[in-house]
Amino acid sequence: MSARPRVVRVDLGERSYPIHLGTGDLDGVGDAVARHTGANQVGLVTVPGVGRRYGARVVRSLRAAGLKVTRVQVPDSDATKNLGQVRKLYDRFLTAGLDRKSALVALGGGMVGDLTGFTAATYLRGIPFVQIPTTVLAMVDASIGGKTGVNLRQGKNLVGAFHQPSLVWIDTATLRSLSPRDRAAGMAEVVKAGAIWDARYFARLERDCDRVMELDPRALIPVLERACRIKAEVVRRDEREESGVRALLNFGHTLGHAIEKQMGYRRIRHGEAVAIGMVHAARRSEALGLAPAGTAGPIEDLLARLGLPTEIPRYDRRAHLAAMKVDKKKEGRKIHYVVLRRIGEAQTVELSPAEILPARAPA
Ligand SMILES: NC(=O)c1ccc[n+]([C@@H]2O[C@H](COP(=O)([O-])OP(=O)(O)OC[C@H]3O[C@@H](n4cnc5c(N)ncnc54)[C@H](O)[C@@H]3O)[C@@H](O)[C@H]2O)c1
Ligand SMILES: [Zn+2]
Repeated sequence: MSARPRVVRVDLGERSYPIHLGTGDLDGVGDAVARHTGANQVGLVTVPGVGRRYGARVVRSLRAAGLKVTRVQVPDSDATKNLGQVRKLYDRFLTAGLDRKSALVALGGGMVGDLTGFTAATYLRGIPFVQIPTTVLAMVDASIGGKTGVNLRQGKNLVGAFHQPSLVWIDTATLRSLSPRDRAAGMAEVVKAGAIWDARYFARLERDCDRVMELDPRALIPVLERACRIKAEVVRRDEREESGVRALLNFGHTLGHAIEKQMGYRRIRHGEAVAIGMVHAARRSEALGLAPAGTAGPIEDLLARLGLPTEIPRYDRRAHLAAMKVDKKKEGRKIHYVVLRRIGEAQTVELSPAEILPARAPA
């Protein structure tokens, strides 16, 4: 069952670009890459598991569009989303003769997108790049908005650049090979988009959640499209996280990051930690009198239906507080913490870590 492709535009003046959403149309990406980057040569970056499944089709499509292709595989781990890997990519692309008329293409999840995007932002002072996201999280979140970066030993995403892609090409058929756990984790960011921005969309997710998880395109495509539109709108209003609007995307992330750090990034998915963080933030919003009673319940229920965790594991308050204090988003002693006013509307408030995570967990 296929649905006709949709296009979402990210409006950023001369840095504007389209997000193409289709099903089973990976073969069309080559022409679009040529058209939107103006390149005659590309470096394609992927990981083995994704490259094995989809690499040949993408390479064929790029070559059919007249592009010279250098394909590079990087290890499938956030542990090598680092400057050492970036340097290896520079080496490969210099050897292959990629110049300022070349572009990079990221085929994979958010890890590949961040690594490739950062390499594109810095190689020869910046060349265009294209995102072909293959996880839910990358489709609705990581591939949109131009945040690129790599990890340092001291923490995640501490080095990076704003570099908008020239095109985002989504083929939802690639999600069929994604593990149910990764699918669900990505859906946490979809739920986030509804919770902070659009109550009607949240209700639609409640209605269509099972069909979305089964990847029925008639339910999936509109849901992904709206999530992309919300991200695009937030980025349009606040491209560089200056006015505070983009900070709303951090809903669930303050505690989420602390949990990821405590548990180790290998043991818990980002989206799982964010799910726990969102439920906590929604409950805090109620407890602080910012949101009406009954705001957190539907969020918790929806996340649970998606198979996501909603309670803090092995509750170690001191460790979580310490982790929140070193989160790079802090300013002074207070943290810009995202709370809900209701489902569909969020704001930031200044809270200390102890206020975010009170000694007695709120009822
Ligand atoms: N730039 C941003 O705005 C932004 C936003 C959120 C997250 N991120 C970054 O994104 C990364 C997380 O992204 P992610 O959740 O996509 O993780 P990921 O890229 O690590 O992918 C998760 C797993 O799924 C596999 N995979 C990907 N696509 C597949 C497919 N179609 N079929 C089968 N397997 C597939 C990958 O090989 C990997 O093992 C982190 O590095 C995070 O920092 C960036
Ligand atoms: Zn996130």
